Amino acid sequence: MQEQDETPTFSEVNLISVTVNGHLYERQVSVRMLLSDFLRHVLHLTGTHVGCEHGVCGCCTVLLNGEAVRSCLMLAVQSDGMALTTIEGMAGTNSELHPIQQAFQEKHGLQCGFCTPGIIMSVHAMLHENPNPTEEEIRHELSGNLCRCTGYQNIVEAVKLAAERLHASHMEVE
Ligand code: FES
Ligand code: FES
Repeated sequence: MQEQDETPTFSEVNLISVTVNGHLYERQVSVRMLLSDFLRHVLHLTGTHVGCEHGVCGCCTVLLNGEAVRSCLMLAVQSDGMALTTIEGMAGTNSELHPIQQAFQEKHGLQCGFCTPGIIMSVHAMLHENPNPTEEEIRHELSGNLCRCTGYQNIVEAVKLAAERLHASHMEVE
């Protein structure tokens, strides 16, 4: 009996169901579509940036079931049944900035802003795991996010401020 070849063809599409920023989406996607392309080109959530497309720069970082992941290293079909948060999901319902975003604004933790969505998502995951990081821990955790503009000092200051404020308000990073 001949074995059936189950290798997907490039043109194959799958139906996926994924919750992004609290909204459920069901879409047919090519099995080879990257998660970053799905977010940007199918859902039009262009806040997730794409730099290197091979896992080095961190620009494309999003939260997948609360964990920071590089969306350029995942296929959209791998997110089926999961919950994603992108930078568009960070602000409150009345568009007020999330405390992490507010701290970046106040401490000038960005210049061109290209790296910023990925850094904010990484910081979100970091403060959930470690609400009171030392400067060394902040630098270590953000070592996978490249920024060509700031020299990182103001990013570190912004993370410290965000951690202080979240701690003072007893607000947990969810
Ligand atoms: S675009 Fe994903 S890590 Fe650079
Ligand atoms: S602010 Fe320009 S790359 Fe980071």
